[in-house]
Amino acid sequence: MTVSSDDELAALKRIGRIVADTLEMMGRSLEPGMTTRELDGIGRAVLEAAGARPAPEMAYAFPGATCISVNEEIAHGIPGERRIAAGDLVNIDVSAEKDGYFADTGASFAVPPVTRAVERLCRDGRRALWTGLRQVGAGKPIAGIGRAVGDFARKNGYTLVRNLASHGVGRSLHEEPTEIATWPDASERRVMREGLVFTVEPFLSLGAALAEGGEDAWTLYSRPKALTVQYEHTVVASRNGPLVLTMPSP
Ligand code: CO
Ligand code: CO
Repeated sequence: MTVSSDDELAALKRIGRIVADTLEMMGRSLEPGMTTRELDGIGRAVLEAAGARPAPEMAYAFPGATCISVNEEIAHGIPGERRIAAGDLVNIDVSAEKDGYFADTGASFAVPPVTRAVERLCRDGRRALWTGLRQVGAGKPIAGIGRAVGDFARKNGYTLVRNLASHGVGRSLHEEPTEIATWPDASERRVMREGLVFTVEPFLSLGAALAEGGEDAWTLYSRPKALTVQYEHTVVASRNGPLVLTMPSP
């Protein structure tokens, strides 16, 4: 969507803060021994208390309130009986709706003890996200995001997953513009109109180039198999640059 009034912006900020607070609470609650279903339940409770509805369930009948992906799983993992262990890399993706507005955020968390390589991957995953976000602003080329993230990945010796794109969001979970690449894409000619709402969510990896489906209808795995992180914010292209909606409460 494109934001056209202060009321719309206020509604987006409300749902943005709710998903960010939910993600933060889930990240803080992560503990070895808990199942991913228990972790999902914590997220569901935070969303419900805020009057928000989990978007994956609502939009796609996804079997969970949030997507939780562990280690070899990189996205759309189904909450279930899997127990989180020390040393796991856990991606949590939270998207939800309130009053007809949607926001989407995600982050990867390493459960201690953490190796230096994983610590560095997580830190650089966040840096990759902010590298992309800094390219956001009214009138700027969408291609600038993928170009900047691509440069960052290359200079720091990482790969990017190239078939999981960022997307428009706001009045639904996934909407126009779709397929926003967080990797270099020479064919990308679109420009960010003032007020455009979309996600930036690069997948930074120690070797994966693709995400591939497996046995269930949802879970995506890294190919070739390699540790991968994802960090995601919902952002508005404003005249003053990026306006990030998915910041937690201070
Ligand atoms: Co997401
Ligand atoms: Co998304």
